Amino acid sequence: MPLLKEEFDFIKDLVRQNTGIELESDKEYLVESRLTALVYKEGLSSIEHLLSRVKIEGTQSQIYRKVVESMLTTETYFFRDDNPFLVFRKNVIPYILETRGMLKSFNIWCGACSTGQEPYSLAMILNDHFPELNSWRYRIVATDLSLENLEKARAGRYSPLQVSRGLGADNLAKHFEQKGSDWEINDNIKSMVEFSQMNLFDAYWNIPGPDIVFLRNVLIYFDASKKQEILHHIKSIMAPDGFLFLGSCETTIGLDPDFEPVYVENTVYFRLKKT
Ligand SMILES: C[S@@+](CC[C@H](N)C(=O)[O-])C[C@H]1O[C@@H](n2cnc3c(N)ncnc32)[C@H](O)[C@@H]1O
Repeated sequence: MPLLKEEFDFIKDLVRQNTGIELESDKEYLVESRLTALVYKEGLSSIEHLLSRVKIEGTQSQIYRKVVESMLTTETYFFRDDNPFLVFRKNVIPYILETRGMLKSFNIWCGACSTGQEPYSLAMILNDHFPELNSWRYRIVATDLSLENLEKARAGRYSPLQVSRGLGADNLAKHFEQKGSDWEINDNIKSMVEFSQMNLFDAYWNIPGPDIVFLRNVLIYFDASKKQEILHHIKSIMAPDGFLFLGSCETTIGLDPDFEPVYVENTVYFRLKKT
């Protein structure tokens, strides 16, 4: 279904206003194919028909939300890039155990969590490697903009292809149960993660102050000033000795001098400089 220039411009504005993502003009084909898929899914006749419904029904409508969400890239998989999870297990949690031993509590925030594989990977590590945490109070709060992603994340149900990416046979056997042709994560791991909707550009972030932040593979979609806005917000809520993990192509360098990179195990995390 061909996409007209004014339709592309309409989507570009809608996506910028609702997600902060800047669609470049070379994304026309991507927009066209995502809108075409939505047209079929909703049983509509054309992109024109879809966009006229968006305009008539307005910003609070289901169809508006579905168009916004259809433009989001949701790519994710279990233990993505391995090394950040290795460092989380070998360095970060041991540090937390040592420094939070009096209070026995800490918070993890996994922002832009997509369909849940990332926070569930963290939960499996805590469950499998740190039995001493049974007597601690900790929260793994996972957020995303997309209600559709969050619904899938809460269900914790994954296709054979999704469980074949990064999980490993041991984790599959230990933490998942086969349901039809899919696999569902067990209630123990599921109950360790709290999912809620949050736009990274919301003025107020309704999450407990994190000791550890995973915000991976999302800054890449924003321009420099929006990245700075998000880093500034993280700084204002993160523990002063907290840990920030970004995607492998993302950094705070050149954006926010208050963070410094720590290189370990072929990966990097970021901490606030001591003042
Ligand atoms: C590529 S996925 C990354 C998933 C996961 N963090 C990972 O690294 O595997 C990007 C996610 O960012 C979310 N996202 C995009 N813009 C957002 C925004 N403004 N606020 C919150 N989430 C957003 C999308 O819905 C999508 O689930």
